[in-house]
Amino acid sequence: MVGNGIGIANLPNQRHKLVAKNGAHFTLMVVGESGLGKSTWINTLFSTELSPPKNYRARYTKQMSRGTEVEIMKAELEERGFTLKLTIIETPGFGDYVDNRESWSPIVDFLDDQHENFMRQEQQPHRNEKVDMRVHACIYFITPNGHSLKPLDIETMKRLGTRVNLIPVIAKADTMTPQDIIAFKENVRKVIAAQGIKVYVPPVDADDEAAAEHSQVLMSAMPFSIIGSTEDVTTTDGRVVKGRQYRWGVAEVDNEDHCDFRKLRSLLLRVHMLDLVSTTEETHYEAYRQTQMETRKFGEAKVKKLDNPKFKEEEELLRKRFTEQVKLEEARFRQWEQHLIAERDRLNKDLENAHSAIRQLEAEVDALNSYQRSQGTVGRR
Ligand code: GTP
Ligand code: MG
Repeated sequence: MVGNGIGIANLPNQRHKLVAKNGAHFTLMVVGESGLGKSTWINTLFSTELSPPKNYRARYTKQMSRGTEVEIMKAELEERGFTLKLTIIETPGFGDYVDNRESWSPIVDFLDDQHENFMRQEQQPHRNEKVDMRVHACIYFITPNGHSLKPLDIETMKRLGTRVNLIPVIAKADTMTPQDIIAFKENVRKVIAAQGIKVYVPPVDADDEAAAEHSQVLMSAMPFSIIGSTEDVTTTDGRVVKGRQYRWGVAEVDNEDHCDFRKLRSLLLRVHMLDLVSTTEETHYEAYRQTQMETRKFGEAKVKKLDNPKFKEEEELLRKRFTEQVKLEEARFRQWEQHLIAERDRLNKDLENAHSAIRQLEAEVDALNSYQRSQGTVGRR
């Protein structure tokens, strides 16, 4: 399969380490609700029909008893003699369930399983060519609703961010105005920061000013707005481009004024692929390995979910948040109770004052009556 100028021929420039004798190997995962344009984006990125139904080499579906599926496609892309072995993982069914856990847990399990498989192979005395499906980048598709992230997005992204290089994108950017995209991005960034979601940050090379600036530009565009299309369309000024035709004109995939598709492609395939591969090894795999080493005896099977410290951490966090909420409610109730007591005391005092005023008045009336009687004027006017 020959990609049409997709940029992978630039990969050897990223340093020789990545380039094994058989070419580079890259695993990409796409996650997001159904119909957000995941398959279209993959096909747009590699300028070829990779995603089902056409033209993929091998397809393997890991069907879970319920919940999200994990679908694996493999392809070899070649450009000017350079080969990229690509594994693409799609996750159909994500977001289709009432219980969010059914959406994210198969994905999280899949990521952990890949680390587990690799670790087991590393422990073998004969280190042959390893089967390695550790995910190097996970593109998370956000619905372009113009408001903010949904609870399912937050829950899922939190879990993904600690396991994989997470790259959030705003799907179907052509359905929003440029101003709305700016505001939406800002909203999403705020939620990401407030919720402590870990997203991939490109490395900043202090010795290379141009590269450092490029990284900054990429970072400031996050979450990347994207338009996907494999269709050739003609712009009003006569250019033929990949894009989506509207009555008002063309939304262009490759136009930086229309979306961040180019920036994201540059990050993934041109500039930071090596970093994505090495951080997967050094940060995410290492974190998994360490956790497992600390919590199980040698030779023991993978730690059960409930014993898994990561899982425990989440449970603990939930419990803490729940307790905090209960405390907060209790404090609010106490405050309200105090307010009621104070109000009751105030009313009692008012009542008491009123009684004593009445008593005072009655005494004065009595005094007046007895005075009038003594003067013989009662009842006479
Ligand atoms: P599932 O496989 O069902 O999860 O969907 P998906 O996320 O793979 O979406 P897919 O690529 O199949 O696209 C769904 C629909 O959205 C198709 O009609 C696409 O043409 C359309 N679409 C894809 N990308 C874009 C985009 O950037 N903008 C707009 N407006 N439509 C898009
Ligand atoms: Mg699809």
